[in-house]
Amino acid sequence: MRRVRYYTYGGPEVLTMEDVEQPTPQAGQVLLRTEAVGVNFVDTRFRRGPGSGSIFQRPLPGRPTGDVVGTVTQTGPGVDPQLIGRRVAALAEDAYADFVIAEARWLASVPDHLDHGDASMLAMSAPVALRILRAAPLNRGDTVLIHSAAGGIGHLTVQLAKLLGASIVIGTAGAPGKLDFIRAVGADSAVDYAQPGWPDQVRAAAPKGVDIVLDAVGGPVLQSSLDLLAPFGRAVVYGAANGELEQIPVVKLFALRSVTGFNLTAWRHANPDQARQEMDELAKLFAAGQLRTTVHASLPLNQAATAHEIIESRSHTGRILLVPAAPTPGDPQS
Ligand SMILES: NC(=O)c1ccc[n+]([C@@H]2O[C@H](COP(=O)([O-])OP(=O)(O)OC[C@H]3O[C@@H](n4cnc5c(N)ncnc54)[C@H](OP(=O)(O)O)[C@@H]3O)[C@@H](O)[C@H]2O)c1
Repeated sequence: MRRVRYYTYGGPEVLTMEDVEQPTPQAGQVLLRTEAVGVNFVDTRFRRGPGSGSIFQRPLPGRPTGDVVGTVTQTGPGVDPQLIGRRVAALAEDAYADFVIAEARWLASVPDHLDHGDASMLAMSAPVALRILRAAPLNRGDTVLIHSAAGGIGHLTVQLAKLLGASIVIGTAGAPGKLDFIRAVGADSAVDYAQPGWPDQVRAAAPKGVDIVLDAVGGPVLQSSLDLLAPFGRAVVYGAANGELEQIPVVKLFALRSVTGFNLTAWRHANPDQARQEMDELAKLFAAGQLRTTVHASLPLNQAATAHEIIESRSHTGRILLVPAAPTPGDPQS
């Protein structure tokens, strides 16, 4: 089977397609035949490695993670063999491959008619989008500021904020060309946070301040956002795309503001039953057409480097997918 790894840190060109044996699922695991893989921002940072100053670090060889959609073809010891043939989604390592190992206990069931794009959101991206809103927590009528709202997680968060009853949703992005997209997925206002006066634009849209800030950018964006919070406002920090792990000045919190952190792994450990229940809840929202994924690009497996280039250029709106076509004998990629 084909698999993409990297053996040195560096640019997208270090992603290397190789021909390897299919892995065998161990206890608690399943083997999936891959249908599609959602490519996530954080893997571009892992790939850059420690020398780039990246705060995100993984050892070599690099085994990209991804939001895999596939069919269970084999089960490991202790796993219900009735899972074989089931279409599922999973966050997995060594995910850019024709076959992928996944943990059976974190499989998300995929409704049959769901397309690749929606299915690829079920294991990780959509649960993060929902959970950051609930971690805030979002109350009906709240005003919500969602940063990097045109991204994979961001464009789902905009939709979920509205579904959960936010009255005003303001989305930000780092380029003017993304603002129409943010409004199209449901935001009331869209702001280019690459412009120096962006906080004033948020103030114009929310004169009393925002009740919630959802931020995975960090740096000056996070610092300015704290000043935008209304009394009793809550910021949820769930990433640091610009590479700066901020100190939160406690003095900014005296104005009745709070900051909380979120990480999906920590959430799954802390509350596994609810984490699983939320995957099912999200599957129903996608199946009912209440939540929709915009697929920016679907690329074959041998274009994993292009997928990373697009993400690093910050030009995408929505989801980037790798779609491994079944390799046929004689295919140069097989
Ligand atoms: N806590 C968790 O459990 C968890 C889980 C998954 C992902 N995350 C985080 O959630 C965020 C979104 O993930 P995603 O995979 O859906 O990615 P994404 O939003 O599709 O892509 C990342 C976006 O970050 C924005 N960005 C802001 N500053 C940037 C910078 N200095 N360099 C590059 N991009 C920058 C870019 O949008 P603009 O160009 O519009 O600014 C870019 O499109 C990421 O920060 C990720 O690390 C957290």
